[in-house]
Parts: sequence; C-alpha cells; structure tokens
Amino acid sequence: MTTLTALRFCATATLALAISGLSATAQQFQNHLMPQPAKISIGSGGLALDSTFAVEVPGVSDARLTDAIDRAVRRIEMDTGLRHAGRGEVGKTKLVVKVDRPSAPVQSLEEDESYALVVTPAGAEIDAATEVGAMHGLETLIQLVQPNGASYFIPAVTINDTPRFRWRGLMVDCARHFEPVAVIKRTINGMAAVKLNVFHWHLTEDQGFRIQSHVYPALTGKSSDGLFYTQQDAKEIVAYARARGIRVVPEFEMPGHSTAWLFAYPSLASGSNPDGVRREFGISDYAIDPTREATYTFIDRFLTEMATVFPDSYVHIGGDEAPAPDWKTNPRILAFKKAHNLKDNDALQAWFNTRILKIVARLHKHMMGWDEVLTPGLPKDVVVQSWRGEASLSKGAKLGYKGVLSAPYYLDAMKPASVHYLADPLPSTSDLTPDQRALILGGEVCMWGEHIFPGTIDSRIWPRTAAIAERFWSPENVRDVDDMYHRLIPISVELESLGLTHIQSEDAALRELTGTENIDALRTFASVVEPVSFSERSETQRTSQLTALDRLIDAVRPDPPARHWFEAAVKRLLADPKGDSADRALLAAWFTTLSDAVPAARQQILASPCLAEASTRADQLLMLTAMGQQSLQYLAKDEKAAPGWKAKQNHALDEIRKPSALVRFAVLPTFSDLVQAVPE
Ligand code: ACM
Repeated sequence: MTTLTALRFCATATLALAISGLSATAQQFQNHLMPQPAKISIGSGGLALDSTFAVEVPGVSDARLTDAIDRAVRRIEMDTGLRHAGRGEVGKTKLVVKVDRPSAPVQSLEEDESYALVVTPAGAEIDAATEVGAMHGLETLIQLVQPNGASYFIPAVTINDTPRFRWRGLMVDCARHFEPVAVIKRTINGMAAVKLNVFHWHLTEDQGFRIQSHVYPALTGKSSDGLFYTQQDAKEIVAYARARGIRVVPEFEMPGHSTAWLFAYPSLASGSNPDGVRREFGISDYAIDPTREATYTFIDRFLTEMATVFPDSYVHIGGDEAPAPDWKTNPRILAFKKAHNLKDNDALQAWFNTRILKIVARLHKHMMGWDEVLTPGLPKDVVVQSWRGEASLSKGAKLGYKGVLSAPYYLDAMKPASVHYLADPLPSTSDLTPDQRALILGGEVCMWGEHIFPGTIDSRIWPRTAAIAERFWSPENVRDVDDMYHRLIPISVELESLGLTHIQSEDAALRELTGTENIDALRTFASVVEPVSFSERSETQRTSQLTALDRLIDAVRPDPPARHWFEAAVKRLLADPKGDSADRALLAAWFTTLSDAVPAARQQILASPCLAEASTRADQLLMLTAMGQQSLQYLAKDEKAAPGWKAKQNHALDEIRKPSALVRFAVLPTFSDLVQAVPE
C-alpha cells in the first residue's frame, strides 16, 4: 500500500510538472491549492513528513471535529506512505487544531467558515472560529503536501482564508436518473475537498419521486420504479454531509415538473391526469392544482414530514417551467382566477407560491425557487435561483430578493472548465449598489440528470466543479486560466482518491464497449474528443429515461486534459513560430502518437455496435494530425503554404466541425489556430 500510494502521488506531481513545464526543486513551494486561499504568504523550508501525526485539539472538541481530523490525517498518511498512528506508532509531526466555539446543531448560512493555517518546520496549526472552518483548513493542509525528493513535506506558509460567497452549492438531479447513496457520498467527499457547502438535492421530477414518505406512501410506491431514498438513507446523507461541513437543501418540484406527484395522487392534478411517470424529457403540461384547499393540506403534511428528515432552514420548491394549460381551460380554475382577480397563470402561480411560503414559514424555514418564482408580489424572504441568465439575478437583487447564480454553471452544456470559471456571480462591473450586492448569496453548479447514470455522473461533475468552487470561494481577481488548469490536475487526482471515478470511468466504459482490456489505441483517440452539449444531443438523439446511455458520448469526458494542454503549447509555439522550441518537438510527437493510434482504434470502433457510428471521427483525426504536422513544418521554415493548402484545410475543418456521432473534437479550435498561423 505504501509504495502504491506514494507512486500514485509521484505520478500526479510529475504529470502536473510536465504539463506546466516546471521542474521540481526540493522544498520549493508548488501552489496546487484549489480553491486559492484569500491570503497566503510563503515561508522558508517546511514541515517534514517523516512520522505520523501528534494531534492536539486545545479548543472546542467533539466527535465531528475529531472524526474530521482523523480522516484528514489518514488521507495525508495514505498519500505519503506513512504508517498509521494507532498501530504502535508514536506520532511526532505536530498538528494543532484549535476551534473557538461549538457549532450550531444545524449549519446555517451564517456559519463562520474562515480559518488560519500556519505551517513551520516545527509543526502545523489551524485556528478557526468553528469546526467547519477547521475542516476547510484541513483540506488546505492536505493539498499542501508535496514530494521532496525521497519523502514528503508541507511547505512553510501562513494562510488566512475566508470564502467570498456564503452559498457555494452543487445541485444534483437524482430524479430523472436515480443515483445510489454511494454516489451521493462520494460526491459529498468531492464537494468538501473543494470547500463547497450546499448539496442541493433535486428529489422529484416528472420522471420519478425519489424520497420516501410514510404519510403519502404512493409517491414512491407508484412513482419511483422502486428507485428511491428511504428516510433512513436521506438522514444518513444529511449526517454524512454535516460531518463534512455541508448543508443539504432538498428540492420538491411544484407546481410543474410534477407528473410523479400526480400519478401517485391524481386528486392533486389540475384536470388532466398522467397515466404513468413521464419517460420522455422536456417540459410537461401536467401541474398541481393551486385552487383546491386539499392541495395545501397535502403539501403541508408532506413538507411537515420532510422537515423531520431535512433539518436545513431552506427548502427548495422548484417552481420552474410550469405552462399548466389546464389553468387556462379548466372552468373551475378559471372561476377561481376570476374570483381572486388573478389575471394569468403567472399570477395564479404567485398565489400558489404565497400559500406554500406560509407552510414553509410555519416550519420555521426559508423558501427557495427557480427564476420563475420571481413574480410581482413575491414575498421578500424567498431566495431566487437564477438559471435563465445573469440578468435575472441582478433584476432580483434590484427588487430586494436574495439570489444564487446557476445560469453559467450548467455542467450539461459540456463547456470547458475555463468558461464556467470566468463566469462570476458578482463581477466588479456589476451595477448593483452595496446593499444589493449583499443580496447575492453565491452560486450553484447544476448537474441535471437526463443523460447521466452512476457510470458517468462523476466525469460530468469533476474536475470542472473544482474550478467553479474556486470562483465561489476565492477573491474575484483569481482568474488566471492557465494557472487554474495547472492546479486542476492534482486536485482531480486527489478527488479520485476520495472515491470519485471521473478519470477511470472513461477507460471502464471503453473496456465495456469493446469487451477487451486492450484499449490503448482507443483511449488515445478518446483523449481528444468530448461529449456534445445536452441540447445538441437532444436535437440529434431522441432520448428518454429508458434510453441506454452506452455510446461513445457516454464514455468520453468533457474538457479532456489534452484540450488545454494543446491550446497552451500552441500558444507558446505561435509566440515564436521559428524558434528552436521544445513545444514543436512535443507537438509533432503527440500528433504522431494520435495518428498511430487511429488504425487500431478504428478497427475496434467498427467492431462495436455502440461505437461504429464514430468511425468517421477516427478518420477525421488522421486529417487533423496531418494538417497539424504540415502546419508545424511550414511554421518552422517560415515558409508560405502551397497555393490552395489553407483553403483545403479550412474546408476540412468545416467538415469536421459538423455534428457526427454525438462527440466533437475538443482540440479542433487549436488545430484551426495552427492552420491560420501558417503564412500564405
Ligand atoms: C431548469 O433548468 N429548468 C431549472
């Protein structure tokens, strides 16, 4: 175990260094921290890790804190090949964790998450107001560990850290496709590692109801296909998250996206009734009836029951995409609208929201909803989660509503980490006043569930979410994309050691698709392609909940590491195209590796019914690598391209840009940059 874990860590460090072009120097601080702390100063030397830890907890101490320290120490010991304390080993490496005051039983938005971490050659000390701050300090400590020749050390640093935003969330839709408890736990492990603090659990959808109700057992009895969380499961997740400084905010969608409620309890419906849960995706016409008292009695009893499972002071009621045509045609509902002077469906939904808010308030909770809940007359206590654009977040704040930004953080758009990273919940250019700025609580990453299952969810969330977590935590001016990618590789590997499968899942899927362990060539091909976006897939493939997710798109990862590596190498090369550049040799060798892999990859692609459609992409990789090699040669000699060469390459690039096999070349824009740089 010792050798293996040490090797794993060395491999990470080597890859990161190779990609950045740096060379390792003994005791030199390598900043791999993600998120970057608010303030860091580097000392000289560091704390050698040549023994297990002697931990002191001189302040407040309870089981949550000591468990968190044990987990952190165990991870460092695993990473560095130290023997575990408790097996006759007396620790010598001093670690002090000092917490000022006990935490509230339920973590709140007001939790003080700040911490100070001081590392000297004599020891490490974390000082925090609360246990949650101490846990963040422990994650930073783990990320600081680095190799130093034959052993490991923690560089001498002084860090004073505090989050920029109080609400740093990840929403996971477990309703369209169910995700087992083990998947949720590893997701929470990853969140804690990058200092996210809200797990927003999307539990109900047209496609399924995933949380057990004893009061209304048909919700899962009829509308879950047997795939749901028992209340015991949910309580276990809540406790698991709390142990890691993470709040759990449950979402129960109403009045739209409610087919699962209505199939189980038809008396809730507005007129038309579904004859099953919905298998296709998109927006449903079914809606909960907001005009009957019985609806509110039902929701009151349900939310009261859920309050015993989910202690967080926020509850999310969805509220998005509820066209509800029945509200425009059902005579009873039309009469209700007239009697209450509700001019349209928006007004009726606002009326519904106000009634639900009363229930939520009686439970001493705050209500949250998607953009659409922001209608005239909405009480100011409701938090608006902005998914349709940044403008609506600003609009909400100007009207006095608290808001959380999600629009730029939709992972199913399959955008590079850099694009999400640069999107700021509250840019300095914002025209909000200081009071309005204070209403922006933070941001939430969204992982919708149409096209994911336990085999792919991790690679869609990670490591891109680590970059977004930095946007939510670190100062606004931390925006260097190359530096972010440099740090993303070690954190990605650390995330995998926490049980996430985002790197290995691609290989596992390729093995499954080909029925062989020999996937070297196919892996090389797959390393430069990525999934198309949710909308592009939906336009091309009519997916439903029953569609098998077993194509190349379901194997490959968004924003594969090769994309940014290639982009950065070409940028350096083009800064001095004729120079005697190491990058030229590296790029030429890489093009050769890629093209050499194509024949064997192509053979495997054609032999697999699920992959065969991608053979065109394999052929196109040969075209790309050939144009890459030719571009390098022209550039090295500063030679003009042969007449018509560039037009031909651009035509090929246009063809390759067209949709095919639901995957695209993540490296295509950089091949185009190379071609355009050739003089003509
Ligand atoms: C949403 O994406 N409909 C919240």
